[in-house]
Amino acid sequence: MSQHQEKARIIRFEQLSELNVRITLDAPLIAASADAGQFVMIRTGSGQDPLLRRPFSLHQTSSSGYIQIYFKNVGRGTHILAHTKVGELLDVFGPLGRGFRFARDRAACLVGGGLGIAPMLFLAKKIASSSRDHGRDLIILGGRSREDVEPLVEDFKEFGLALRCATDDGSFGIKGLVTDLVKSEHLTRDTVVYGCGPENMLEALNRFCRSRGIACQVSVESVMACGMGACLGCNIDAAQGDYLHVCIDGPVFNTEDLAWNS
Ligand SMILES: Cc1cc2nc3c(=O)[nH]c(=O)nc-3n(C[C@H](O)[C@H](O)[C@H](O)COP(=O)(O)OP(=O)(O)OC[C@H]3O[C@@H](n4cnc5c(N)ncnc54)[C@H](O)[C@@H]3O)c2cc1C
Ligand code: FES
Repeated sequence: MSQHQEKARIIRFEQLSELNVRITLDAPLIAASADAGQFVMIRTGSGQDPLLRRPFSLHQTSSSGYIQIYFKNVGRGTHILAHTKVGELLDVFGPLGRGFRFARDRAACLVGGGLGIAPMLFLAKKIASSSRDHGRDLIILGGRSREDVEPLVEDFKEFGLALRCATDDGSFGIKGLVTDLVKSEHLTRDTVVYGCGPENMLEALNRFCRSRGIACQVSVESVMACGMGACLGCNIDAAQGDYLHVCIDGPVFNTEDLAWNS
C-alpha cells in the first residue's frame, strides 16, 4: 500500500462539542489508497513545536478525494488543530498501518467507545457498501455523555445498519457501557467484533469475545514518533512473547495476537 505526503487544504471545520472537532481535508492521494482502520500522521505546528507529527485514525474518506479526522483537544498538537481554519493547509502523511480485516462472510459488530468512534464511520461505510445481507450487522457506540455520541449518530444512521448507543451518565442511549450492550446482543460465533476505544474497554471486549469464542479485532493506541516502524516507540507485547509495532503491524490487531490473552 503506498503512502503519500500531502499539503491538504481544510475544507470543513466542525466543532462537534466543547472539545471534540472534526476536520475535512482535501487529500486525494491519501483518500484513494486508504482503508478502514488506517491512520494518518499530521504535522500540527509550523516549526518545531510540537516536533512530532500526531497520529489520527481516518474517520471517513470520499471518492471525491476528501478525508476526515475526528479528535479531542487534549494537548499541544490537538489544541493547534482545534484552532485551524477552513482554507489552511496541513501536512498529512498516510495512509499508515494495517486496518480492519473485514470478514465478508461473517456478521459484523462494530464497537466504538469515546474517540474510538473515529475509525468506525469508515468501517461502517465499507461494510454497508459490501453486497450482502446486513440484517445481522450492528454498530454500538458509547461515550461518557451525550456530547461524545449524539453529534455523530446521524452520519452512522445513513448507512442503514442497526445502531445502539450507551453513555456512562445515561444522557444518550442506555445508561451503561458499550460492553453492556455487546453482552446483551446474543452474538454468535459467526460474528466478528471490531473495536476501538480506551484500553480497558478493549480488554473487556476481548475477555467477552474469548469467553464466547467470537473473533475480535481491536484498534489500539500508543505513543508514536515515526509511524513507519523506524523508531521502536510504539511497541506492544505480542502473544508469542515478542513485541509488535502498533504503527506497522497495527493499529488493528486480532486480539489473539496480543499479550492480553497470555
Ligand atoms: C493509531 C492512532 C490513532 C489515533 N486516532 C485518534 C483519533 O482518531 N482521534 C483522536 O482524538 N486521537 C487519536 N489518537 C490519539 C492522538 O494521537 C492523540 O490525542 C494526540 O497524539 C495528542 O496529541 P497532543 O499533542 O494534543 O497531546 P500531547 O500534548 O502530546 O498530550 C496531551 C495528553 O494526551 C495524552 N495522549 C497523547 N497521545 C495519546 C495517545 N496516543 N493516546 C492517548 N492519550 C494520548 C497524553 O498522555 C497527555 O495526557 C490516535 C493515536 C494513535 C496511535
Ligand atoms: S511509531 Fe516509530 S516504530 Fe512505530
